[in-house]
Amino acid sequence: MKLSVIILAAGQGTRMKSALPKVMHKMAGIPMLEHVYKRSLELDAEDVFIVYGHGGEHLHEYCSDFKVEWILQDEQLGTAHAVMQASPRIANDHTVLGLYGDGPLIKPATLKALIDNVSRESIALLTVNLQDPAGYGRIVRDNDRVTAIVEHRDASEAQLRISEVNTGILALPAVDLKKYLAQISNDNAQGEYYLTDLIEIAVNDDKTIVTTQPDNTYEVEGVNDRSQLAKLERIRQREMVEELMLKGVTVADPSRIDIRGELDVGTDSFIDTNCIFEGRVRLGSNVSIGAGCVIVDSTIADGCNIRPYSVIEQATVDEKAEVGPFARLRPGTHLHPDSKVGNFVEIKNSQLGKGSKANHLTYLGDTEVGSRVNIGAGTITCNYDGANKHKTVIKDGAFIGSDTQLVAPVTVGENATIGAGSTITRDTDDGELTLSRSTQKTIKGWQRPVKKK
Ligand code: UD1
Ligand code: CA
Repeated sequence: MKLSVIILAAGQGTRMKSALPKVMHKMAGIPMLEHVYKRSLELDAEDVFIVYGHGGEHLHEYCSDFKVEWILQDEQLGTAHAVMQASPRIANDHTVLGLYGDGPLIKPATLKALIDNVSRESIALLTVNLQDPAGYGRIVRDNDRVTAIVEHRDASEAQLRISEVNTGILALPAVDLKKYLAQISNDNAQGEYYLTDLIEIAVNDDKTIVTTQPDNTYEVEGVNDRSQLAKLERIRQREMVEELMLKGVTVADPSRIDIRGELDVGTDSFIDTNCIFEGRVRLGSNVSIGAGCVIVDSTIADGCNIRPYSVIEQATVDEKAEVGPFARLRPGTHLHPDSKVGNFVEIKNSQLGKGSKANHLTYLGDTEVGSRVNIGAGTITCNYDGANKHKTVIKDGAFIGSDTQLVAPVTVGENATIGAGSTITRDTDDGELTLSRSTQKTIKGWQRPVKKK
């Protein structure tokens, strides 16, 4: 049967103490709501509805690429009321799955197993047994049969002792959802329309409630404050690191790595402690990432050695290149195979050709460096005239002496040599030595100034 997913995300999230809607707070680099939305994609949902509340308008902006219908719940009158805002839009022949936008760790397999239990005669409910069930809706059974869910505030002494609780996640045929929603009232301790009342109504209509449980309780943990968010963050990080290790990556300390987005790694690569990966990062095989590196939206090919404390953003690093320690590759950097970038080198929007080296204290901006080029220590491309950026071209086999300034636009010829300490303002000839240096002289008998008494 086709699937519709409703994600409830209208809650205020007051305990986050934030101007941002709760579900927009990030876990592993993406908003909690996006994690939940991704589950609906993995389940091939036909339609997805996100119920949002006031102040949530800018959810649309951030999530503009979501293929969902946004449903405003004007006033938060309870979980059933939230579902009622979306239910008229759901096709009658669909199965409906209800999820919470603040529960980002739920696994697709858990949801698949749940949905498999939906039939004309049965409603599927995800429950969990908790040592401390305080605050949750309790699952009331008559012998084994589920007969109702009672909210904590409405529960009797005996019911409060029940440890099996409602996770809030359920699945049922759309026709049944619509029929039973219409019968839910707000006659309870909180004066809210409880979605949980649907269970008793359905049981009275001869439906069977089939319960399943997740493998791990954390899958159904929700986030109400930043402390819970931090706890789930660590759990998610651990899950991702376990996946990496299973795929053949050595991680120096699984508790000291942060993946904020997607990290793909080939086999036999090594990641040292305290590295951060953001956005989409791809590392090849036999790559070594030193301690404390920050790598954002970049691709690093097989056999590269990225030494400690390098910062790499929107860059492409080809096979067997070496980077760092303390190197900074900014957007648009492309290091070709076997190239080397050493300490305190910054590169932006530039190509460093095959086997070329910039080993110390250099800035290359808007520069095209050919192959087998040696860039001496302290070389700087002066790419900015205060108003516009200009290009520097350094052809194959060139040798740039230390402490050279290349004032762009300028081209250094093939196999050309630039003498150390030069300021190069005009194109240089292929194969020749060019330098701009005043002749060294000695002033005989010159005296250092002395302090006046
Ligand atoms: C709900 C369940 C409870 C369950 C618990 C699990 C009901 C009545 N109770 O209780 O049985 O044990 O979740 O966490 O369903 N929301 C809206 N609009 C509203 C109200 C809520 O969108 O008008 C959203 C919230 O943003 C949240 C979710 O629904 O994502 C749950 O709401 P919340 O108020 O946290 O429900 P609980 O009281 O925790
Ligand atoms: Ca809750």
